[in-house]
Amino acid sequence: MAVTRTFSIIKPDATRRNLTGAVTKMLEEAGLRVVASKRIHMTRDQAEGFYGVHRERPFFNDLCTFMTSGPVVVQVLEGENAVQRNRDIMGATNPANADEGTIRKSYAESIEANSVHGSDSDENAKIEIDFFFSPDEIVG
Ligand code: CMP
Repeated sequence: MAVTRTFSIIKPDATRRNLTGAVTKMLEEAGLRVVASKRIHMTRDQAEGFYGVHRERPFFNDLCTFMTSGPVVVQVLEGENAVQRNRDIMGATNPANADEGTIRKSYAESIEANSVHGSDSDENAKIEIDFFFSPDEIVG
């Protein structure tokens, strides 16, 4: 299995509750290595650009407001089959549907305040990593 990279966000509901370490521990215990990490306050432009694919969805405005409501931690994660591995440990988007032992089951407050984001494909992982990181910020 190839070692690949994925992009992760620890969302404002999690940073507000001081869960950055707890979430990162679950990512690491799932076999992912944090090869880049920074705590930022996303601008409205960044949120709207990052979630541009959801622009027509009814939750788009609320989602952008939520993502700019407090600090987030953006990360690049590396590991075997990183995209799927991260999705497995995150759990379902709606925490009501997330499996026991996943980050969202453990910590998410709602479908919007669902504690973490993770890329859904290798192609999108590259786009999302490039959106927030320059190559020199990633140290594998
Ligand atoms: P994320 O993985 O960051 O990708 C898009 C986000 O939109 C998702 O997590 C949720 O936080 C949010 N989202 C998805 N579906 C809904 C929904 N039906 N209502 C509100 N927010 C949603």
